[in-house]
Amino acid sequence: MNSTPLIGVFDSGVGGLTVLRALLEQASAADYLYLGDTARLPYGSKSQATVARYAVSSAQFLVAQGAEALVIACNTASALALDALRMAVEVPVIGVIETGATAAHESSRTKDVMVIATAATVESHAYTAACLERGLRAIEKACPLLVPLVEEGWIDHSVTRDVAGIYLDDLLAHAADNGMSADTLVLGCTHYPLLRSVIEDILREHLQGRTVRVIDSAQVTAQQVAARLALESASQREPAVRFYATDSVTKFRALGTRFLGRTMDGVELIDLGG
Ligand code: DGL
Repeated sequence: MNSTPLIGVFDSGVGGLTVLRALLEQASAADYLYLGDTARLPYGSKSQATVARYAVSSAQFLVAQGAEALVIACNTASALALDALRMAVEVPVIGVIETGATAAHESSRTKDVMVIATAATVESHAYTAACLERGLRAIEKACPLLVPLVEEGWIDHSVTRDVAGIYLDDLLAHAADNGMSADTLVLGCTHYPLLRSVIEDILREHLQGRTVRVIDSAQVTAQQVAARLALESASQREPAVRFYATDSVTKFRALGTRFLGRTMDGVELIDLGG
């Protein structure tokens, strides 16, 4: 690996920028490539075979651009395609499910956790398995409408609050029916941290004094990347980032700049096929 390694990060859209943001803060000794596969979004409603095909082509593109390690900043691709990705490329591949479960383990005292994610991630039960390995009981809820709302930039919109409220209501009722005393909610989709304050407000309204910690895998993933690639911290350094999108560059740049908190110059439009 070069003295300044180049790390490829991808997601179906802007959600993975929540992971890139943590990487830029905690693993600033590297430079980055970020790919938003916006033409094929959402991944979360697709079959395992389709997600694996999309994820492999995204990964191979980043490796062809020189990526020396890959961070799958997408829970759906991490849940459904990690093995396919590790077979398809020869660089280290780090997903976000294991790190999300590790963050849940660090957070939970009751050992009961709730997970919200895309339909495909929930159907894979990857979180239930990763939580079980860590001695946690997990209950999962698919929230398929949240990704399109985030991609529209409807972050603090009444429709988004209503939709998130319906999902969380359902999840809390289901957890109670199962006799769980969950104290942690895992945002099992990298788009959802962009709705964190909406989700925290809804939980506060619904829980009447009981606290549920909301966590995502971005920080733990960044820590793991830094440790695994032996990246020394470089506090003064501003990593270089190149951005790619498979659909409207203008929309991706506008939304991404808002979410990443820094300008995204020169987003390149690429074609990865269907
Ligand atoms: N952000 C992705 C995830 O973490 C997937 C969103 C989607 O394309 O459905 O699962």
